[in-house]
Amino acid sequence: MKISIENVSFLLVLASLLSTLKISSAIDTINTTQILRDGESLVSSGGVFALGFFSPGNTTNRYVGIWYNNIPGISVVWVANREIPLTSISGILKIIEPGILVLQNDTNNIIWSSKMTRVAQSPIVQLLDSGNLVLREANDDDPENFLWQSFDYLSDTFLPSMNFGWNYATGIESYLSSWKSNEDPAPEDFTLHLDPTGYPRLLIKRGNFTIYRMGNWNGVRFSGETDVRGKRSLYGLVIMNKNKTYYREDIVDRSAKSRITLSQNAVWQR
Ligand SMILES: *[C@@H]1O[C@H](CO)[C@@H](O)[C@H](O)[C@H]1NC(C)=O
Ligand SMILES: *[C@@H]1O[C@H](CO)[C@@H](O)[C@H](O)[C@H]1NC(C)=O
Ligand SMILES: *[C@@H]1O[C@H](CO)[C@@H](O)[C@H](O)[C@H]1NC(C)=O
Ligand SMILES: *[C@@H]1O[C@H](CO)[C@@H](O)[C@H](O)[C@H]1NC(C)=O
Ligand SMILES: *[C@@H]1O[C@H](CO)[C@@H](O)[C@H](O)[C@H]1NC(C)=O
Repeated sequence: MKISIENVSFLLVLASLLSTLKISSAIDTINTTQILRDGESLVSSGGVFALGFFSPGNTTNRYVGIWYNNIPGISVVWVANREIPLTSISGILKIIEPGILVLQNDTNNIIWSSKMTRVAQSPIVQLLDSGNLVLREANDDDPENFLWQSFDYLSDTFLPSMNFGWNYATGIESYLSSWKSNEDPAPEDFTLHLDPTGYPRLLIKRGNFTIYRMGNWNGVRFSGETDVRGKRSLYGLVIMNKNKTYYREDIVDRSAKSRITLSQNAVWQR
């Protein structure tokens, strides 16, 4: 088992390299009367992330995913229908009563949906500049009141402002699971978790078995990791209280971009 942690600054991409931000008529929300079709996309208000349909590698399977809008090539950070691909370009994403985001195939079967938490009056789905896809009441953008958010259901990528770990109130654990292959985003056996017992540390599991424990949190960073605080573009912190135990990173230098992924051979990399 080899752990490869790249120097943070090495992989931070500066927005200055991307001096020309695309300004378009792109929308960042859909409401109950709108439909997102294959070929269309949502773009977050600051143009940072896009959501749309894509085919990984050489497959023709279609998935709904989120990727960086201004980085050439598709770097997918989240996938909705990881396990059930669409087999044609006739998929549609829409909100149905009483407030569920669904992906339908060409025979109108729901092949993926968000989890329902409560009945919504006037739900909309919005792609935020953090990369979080949220379902919320149109008139309520308080994160505490989101009906559902993609940041609770991670794929293989951890982004700044995600809560990685445990929310005891909702019972949701956010953890990473690697893709099966470059052409199949279905979750593989390998998962990366925050172990909340004692001093938080990271666990890599294969199925139900822990195969690697590492990186005890020393109050500043996980041991063995490059000091992200020293770089001044990113702050990492562990929050522990009776409702939650999680790790979070916040971007200080707004031009910096960072992601941590769990690879198919159980290596986590920044
Ligand atoms: C959804 O948005 C469209 C375009 O802005 C608007 O015409 C329509 O009335 C909205 N529907 C609802 C239910 O708010
Ligand atoms: C796609 O096909 C090309 C040519 O056969 C191959 O070189 C490449 O590795 C394939 N890509 C993936 C992601 O498998
Ligand atoms: C749509 O999904 C349903 C349920 O998964 C499946 O039985 C059906 O074959 C799919 N239709 C197409 C055209 O893929
Ligand atoms: C893993 O643990 C879960 C929950 O205890 C159990 O339902 C499942 O069968 C286990 N899977 C395997 C492969 O042992
Ligand atoms: C835990 O959650 C309860 C109920 O939402 C809240 O009243 C309390 O302030 C929370 N405690 C902490 C430490 O956040």
